[in-house]
Amino acid sequence: MTPFRDYSGFQDLRAMQSLTQRIWSPTTPFHIGNLAWERFEHVGREPEWKTRLWFEGETVLAWGWIHDGSHLYFQIDPARLDLFEEVFSWFETAATEPDLTTMVLDAQAELLARLAGRGYRVVGDDHPFGLRTSRDLENLKPVVLPRGYRALSMADLRDPERRALAHRNAWSRIAGREADPPGRSRVTAESYRQVMAAWPYRPGLDWVVEAPDGRLAANACVWFDEVNGVGLFEPVGTDADFRRLGLAQAVCLAALHALKAAGARLAVVGPRGDDGYPAPRALYATLGFTAHGREIVHARKRLA
Ligand SMILES: CC(C)(COP(=O)(O)OP(=O)(O)OC[C@H]1O[C@@H](n2cnc3c(N)ncnc32)[C@H](O)[C@@H]1OP(=O)(O)O)[C@@H](O)C(=O)NCCC(=O)NCCS
Repeated sequence: MTPFRDYSGFQDLRAMQSLTQRIWSPTTPFHIGNLAWERFEHVGREPEWKTRLWFEGETVLAWGWIHDGSHLYFQIDPARLDLFEEVFSWFETAATEPDLTTMVLDAQAELLARLAGRGYRVVGDDHPFGLRTSRDLENLKPVVLPRGYRALSMADLRDPERRALAHRNAWSRIAGREADPPGRSRVTAESYRQVMAAWPYRPGLDWVVEAPDGRLAANACVWFDEVNGVGLFEPVGTDADFRRLGLAQAVCLAALHALKAAGARLAVVGPRGDDGYPAPRALYATLGFTAHGREIVHARKRLA
């Protein structure tokens, strides 16, 4: 058996990110920023998750992260795909729910074959799935804002309380269903502080648009992987009181200019690809992002 350890703190997220960064390409499903955001956007979620890392010496060869007792995020070094069986034996034992799901990208041919061999079936496109979209950082349009609005980054704003409120106001009403009763996001000043403390967060890449009345109307955080020269948007949102004014476009453009100035060559984002939630995909298309891959969701029953 390959040496492994179970997740015991933020240093293990950093270890998982080391694999994610080492093997990153447009055809790998995760960016170091996805891991940081999803691990830290809320507080108090650690008991919900089981996470295991496999090693050779200090080098992480694979990791698995189980959500809701049933859904596996995983990455395996392409040079060590023999670890697939170990990762999935662990998942199928550690999961607590009967219906198991996981996801790979369409270009991950070897993993697709291994999943089929282990009895996983491809779930149809009526189930939500993510796209992978990207654009280079040449020929960025200038940031255009309505009169009285201004774009600024967390390097200037420096206020996790206001930043978290901006996030909550954006995510309490989803696009196209603004008339529905608002939901509640669990992002708080405390959780945003832990996001800001996570590697590789940079305040100069976390942007907001401030409205004339002082409210933060739109926001976009970019995570920069310097080794691969690629920045990820995660998350992006506009307060429902300020939608369809071009503010998401503007805040994303402001972040893209900052990302380019930081030395990146590529920006990526993973909006939903299914027809159940098309607005973000439409937004990123207006910003010049095109799809280069998609998630293939797989499901299997857990053996009793
Ligand atoms: C998606 C969201 C960020 C868009 O914010 P916004 O400030 O209203 O977007 P913009 O005004 O900059 O829109 C730019 C373009 O995106 C597309 N777009 C935006 N909202 C759309 C919607 N509800 N339906 C279809 N297309 C939409 C349009 O092409 C639009 O251009 P147009 O208004 O000239 O037609 C916002 O609705 C939101 O925060 N939703 C909840 C959180 C979320 O889903 N975030 C994105 C996750 S990846």
